[in-house]
Amino acid sequence: MQLKNSETFKNLARAFAGECMAKTRYEYMAYGAKQEGYCELAKMIKQVANQEFHHSRMFYSFIQTADKNAIDCIEVEAGYPFKEKWDLVDNLKFAANDENEEATRIYPAFAETARKEGFKDIAGLFENVVQVETCHNKLFTDLYNQLSQGKLYSRPTAVKWKCADCGYEATSKEAWKICPLCQAKQGAVMLKLNDNN
Ligand SMILES: [Fe+2]
Ligand SMILES: [Fe+2]
Repeated sequence: MQLKNSETFKNLARAFAGECMAKTRYEYMAYGAKQEGYCELAKMIKQVANQEFHHSRMFYSFIQTADKNAIDCIEVEAGYPFKEKWDLVDNLKFAANDENEEATRIYPAFAETARKEGFKDIAGLFENVVQVETCHNKLFTDLYNQLSQGKLYSRPTAVKWKCADCGYEATSKEAWKICPLCQAKQGAVMLKLNDNN
């Protein structure tokens, strides 16, 4: 089967659009987090946005193998999430849900179709992306739990906190409000994630 006539070709376009949108939504989220002073959280969300950029780049590259001439337009029907508004805690939860959809429903189905249609490399790409979206789901779930429960900078027992700006470290239950060395606000303290991210 020619890639251009396959369902996989449309799925690549759907996935490309989905990744571009996820990247942009996460950039909005990172922008909002930074505005609220959560600089380290913003950095982490931006890193995920950059990973979505690379997913989109790979989908785009495979689309381009379908025709050596310019691909004018690909008509697809697909639904995309538009849940996020301006609340950081809500948005982390929505992002976790969206990642879960990609990892458990959308991309596994695309991989299966690609394999059935004989596009092994593309099936492999979708499967590799599933692995990352699963990690994104865990990361956003972890961040949502920490932020919504006031645990981003607080632990039941003393732990070591580190300022991302100046490198100052101290061990305590709560991270400092203002860094004793460089005066950076709490949002500059490096996050503590679950190991499985
Ligand atoms: Fe992605
Ligand atoms: Fe993702």
